[in-house]
Amino acid sequence: MNYHVMTLFPEMIEHAMNISITGRALKNGILALDVVNIRDYSKDKHNRVDDYPYGGGAGMVMQAQPVYDCHQDLVKKIMDRTKEKGRLPRTIYLTPQGHTFHQKMAEELAKEEDLIFLCGHYEGIDERVLQKIVTDQVSIGDYVLTGGELPAMVMMDTISRLIPGVLHNEDSAEAESFSNDLLEYPQYTRPPEFMGEKVPDILLTGNHAKIEAWRLEQAMERTKKARPELYEAYMLKNPPKLQKRRKKK
Ligand code: ADE
Repeated sequence: MNYHVMTLFPEMIEHAMNISITGRALKNGILALDVVNIRDYSKDKHNRVDDYPYGGGAGMVMQAQPVYDCHQDLVKKIMDRTKEKGRLPRTIYLTPQGHTFHQKMAEELAKEEDLIFLCGHYEGIDERVLQKIVTDQVSIGDYVLTGGELPAMVMMDTISRLIPGVLHNEDSAEAESFSNDLLEYPQYTRPPEFMGEKVPDILLTGNHAKIEAWRLEQAMERTKKARPELYEAYMLKNPPKLQKRRKKK
């Protein structure tokens, strides 16, 4: 996976992505990260990239030209490498106005070879350039952040875990929250007792079938409590087995 990030704060992305699991995958070459500063494409003598909004209102708006030129450069670089002339790489604009990010979206995006993330700041980006270059508008939730960098990193982190080789134990991407439409079951490790609380006996039995059944039960209970709408969807997809009909008298 090759990530390309268009931002006014490249250090923010580079620092965070070069740590922990994504950092290791970048070193191993399983991931690649290309961060470009939109400001480098400003034609203004003071390197400005924003201006007042037409029609008035608070805040500033990022101008179309530096964003467009930066994107053109990236697309050319990607096309030169992939020789895939027909299809433009997906360009994701992070905005509270977008579709809400979720695990299925991450699974779909993990199949791409290149992803471009466009991080806005101020009150947004001139709509005309968004119309020209953006393929997907994505929000990470119903709250407003100061910019698109954190949402881009949330997306890259989520997508990266799904790319073969990024996680060392491949199984761990399978048996966890959302992968089967349920939240994850509780986990325990040593010691067997902590502040008077014991690890559930079932986990010490070595009976894998029983442990699986217990974990599913726990996952269902948790989901029902914390995310009733997920639980309902799960029950519709996985209806409990029909109970044996009682014999007629
Ligand atoms: N930019 C500011 N807030 C955002 C959010 N919630 N999701 C995506 N991009 C954003």
